[in-house]
Amino acid sequence: MSQHLLLPLVILAISPIPGAFPDSAFSPTQEEPEDLDCGRPEPSARIMGGSDAQPGSWPWQVSLHQGGGHICGGSLIAPSWVLSAAHCFVTNGTLAPAAEWTVVLGVHSQNGPLDGAHVRAVAAILVPDNYSSVELGADVALLRLASPARLGPAVRPVCLPRASHRFAHGTACRATGWGDIQEEDPLPLPWVLQEVELRLLGEAACQCLYSRPGPFNLTFQLLPGMLCAGYAEGHRDTCQGDSGGPLVCEEGGRWFQAGITSFGFGCGRRNRPGVFTAVAPYEAWIREQVMGSEPGPTFPSQSPQPQSVLSEPTDENCTIALPECGKAPRPGAWPWEAQVMVPGSRPCYGALVSESWVLAPASCFLGRISSDHQPGDLDNWRVLLPSRPRAEHVARLVPHENASWDDASDLALLQLREPVNLGAAPRPVCLPHPDHYFLPGSRCRLAHWGRGEPAPGSSSLLEAELLGTWWCHCLYGRQEATVPPPGEPPQALCPAYQQEEAVAGRCWNYSHRSLLCREEGTWFLAGIRNFPSDCLRPRVFYPLQTHGPWISHVTRGAYLEDQLAWDWGPEGEETETHICPPHTEHGACGLQPEPAPVGVLWPWLAEVHVAGEHVCTGILVAPGWVLAATHCVLRPGSTTVPYIEVYLGRAGASPLPQSHQVSRSVISIRLPRHLGLRPPLALLELSSRVEPSPSALSICLHPGGIPLGSSCWVLGWKDPQDRVPMAASVSILTPRLCHCLYQGILSPGTFCVLYAEGQEDRCEVTSAPPLLCQTEGGSWVLVGMAIRGSRELFAAIGPEETWISQTVGEAHFLPPSGFPLWPPESSDLCPPDMAGASGSPQAAIFLLLLTPLIQG
Ligand code: ARG
Repeated sequence: MSQHLLLPLVILAISPIPGAFPDSAFSPTQEEPEDLDCGRPEPSARIMGGSDAQPGSWPWQVSLHQGGGHICGGSLIAPSWVLSAAHCFVTNGTLAPAAEWTVVLGVHSQNGPLDGAHVRAVAAILVPDNYSSVELGADVALLRLASPARLGPAVRPVCLPRASHRFAHGTACRATGWGDIQEEDPLPLPWVLQEVELRLLGEAACQCLYSRPGPFNLTFQLLPGMLCAGYAEGHRDTCQGDSGGPLVCEEGGRWFQAGITSFGFGCGRRNRPGVFTAVAPYEAWIREQVMGSEPGPTFPSQSPQPQSVLSEPTDENCTIALPECGKAPRPGAWPWEAQVMVPGSRPCYGALVSESWVLAPASCFLGRISSDHQPGDLDNWRVLLPSRPRAEHVARLVPHENASWDDASDLALLQLREPVNLGAAPRPVCLPHPDHYFLPGSRCRLAHWGRGEPAPGSSSLLEAELLGTWWCHCLYGRQEATVPPPGEPPQALCPAYQQEEAVAGRCWNYSHRSLLCREEGTWFLAGIRNFPSDCLRPRVFYPLQTHGPWISHVTRGAYLEDQLAWDWGPEGEETETHICPPHTEHGACGLQPEPAPVGVLWPWLAEVHVAGEHVCTGILVAPGWVLAATHCVLRPGSTTVPYIEVYLGRAGASPLPQSHQVSRSVISIRLPRHLGLRPPLALLELSSRVEPSPSALSICLHPGGIPLGSSCWVLGWKDPQDRVPMAASVSILTPRLCHCLYQGILSPGTFCVLYAEGQEDRCEVTSAPPLLCQTEGGSWVLVGMAIRGSRELFAAIGPEETWISQTVGEAHFLPPSGFPLWPPESSDLCPPDMAGASGSPQAAIFLLLLTPLIQG
């Protein structure tokens, strides 16, 4: 369970003056003699503002220490008794020994000398028998002090409600504590007690919020004995370290403890108010535990109840808060787009992340200045925001500490001198929490970021589709690295641009872009990229989500928003660890984008258009090289090199998304030196490199034989007109069997295949289709190219390893493994009559019964 706490919030505007009510407002009931006054802080003459509590205003607040530090809060309910939360003391069903704990009373700042403060040892910790975990309720504990507290102005008990006490929903109450001021953001020194005003939420209103999926797509069922306080819009809440502390409501001049801080989902998140243990239902339990102890806690009866309390409204409406960030009227009209104007340089684009803060690349400002050094005079800096008539002044620049050396942290926050009013514009962009998982297939857009010049055309409208983490990580990550599971920050985000080739064949030289991704109509700043000269097309974005905690720490109020889309689709339940298939020294090869978000299943399959006449299959073996069958690209006997064009990124299905196509012309054809015969394999050199992308990625090559345990396919198209890629499943025959079947007509280094039933007609023969195997590790490997006129015989790649590696440089040969290449065999091992069976599948099947296949 996530027990983070929330925010300390930000401060409350005005707090009532505790104790400043006429005493007459409270009349103790007759039947219950007061043994001890409760719930009344020392009258204070000051108004409290801000989140720091005034010293002495919450004299029942105690700090529970273990191992020398603050762990939880608690409240003094009688000189020898403190009320707190069970989960502070129970770990895995075991109650911590009382001797480990001390109670610190009368503290305000935990840093300074504790003036009037004193410490008590704990004699006993009592927890209800039915407590097991916070979400199941009964999160309450009583601590008996080893000796009574010394009561005084800074140390007084709070009043406890009777079981019949009703707190009206909507009542403004106070929670106090030394807990975190935001998720993962501890209270800074001098650790002054914080208070926040929280409104009680009725059970129905709270359940309504918790019934809608929130963080981690979780819903939650409130149980009797729990109460909620806070706001649907979030921002104000308790947080980690506040647990066990009191939620108090003032009635008739006394403060009654309505709740004990128990848990929440994150802190201050939208539609996730804090959950407290309701104290009133525990009246009997508390009385029972403290029985015989004098003086005990005080349970004043409730003063005349307001009408609204008596008629508990059952029709409480369910008011869900919508995101306050990330709404844009249309893609490209970004209400958070900020232009930072620094005298003497071009505007730097960033994004508004809160009412006072703009996020932008640090390199815009630190370029010429070392990072430990504030750049000159912020006085002349200005920030232009949409719909603001005048430019904003800049008060402060906070660069990320790693900005000068880590491109992924090239970030700076600029504080505006005055906060701006948020509305339709300017409006901040939403930022992801570290555990955000942008689903593969998410629709994203690119926005200006930094000092890049606008790209030609409407680049801010460039639409992109996010690729799965596996593919992105394995393409750019380390070899055999484990792919971070959903929920862990990814190392990279890979968008596939829809219009990437709109500027034909040429790089977008303007790559200063941020990546905005949309969920349920809300835009998140998902990634950043700030390289001066890089092609837009192939690269990846640095995820912003890892920086969420830094941004909220600095800004105290940036709009981190929960993940809004959870439709995992086919990737769904997969939680097992993924490992990237082996890379070669030249990077990833043979990866196949899963459920092909962009529709390209075979990113290495090329169409080789020869002299405008016919089309051969080709396979991308390196960024600038395609391998094809010689007989297909060169006319038999002819020595003139035809005009050849190569297309990559064909999705196959019609209508073809032309946007993913990459085309290059062939500038040379290379053949290995073979004695006599024309060599079967040709390398085509492309006019320029094709960088890795989901639509164009190099294949892996196998140095010899067939990778063990692989499944193999002939890949091509059936119809030379529409060229929809097809794969036919095949088995590769053992060299002996192959040799026997085709005795006499085979050149060395030839594979023979047997098609799975009914698959032999799937690929057209004249295009000279390739033979590929998928290894156990998951990469695709090219093992052969078809021999002229045959669909069963393939020229092996392995024997040409040296020539290919020398010609291409970056060819992805995998380390040798698998079935050895062409073991020496004597032809007299062939069964009689074999030669006659050549080419007949029936005969081959018969033979297979005799000889094991090399196929997994
Ligand atoms: N369980 C937390 C603690 O141990 C308190 C969490 C309160 N969280 C919240 N969002 N209200 O300190």
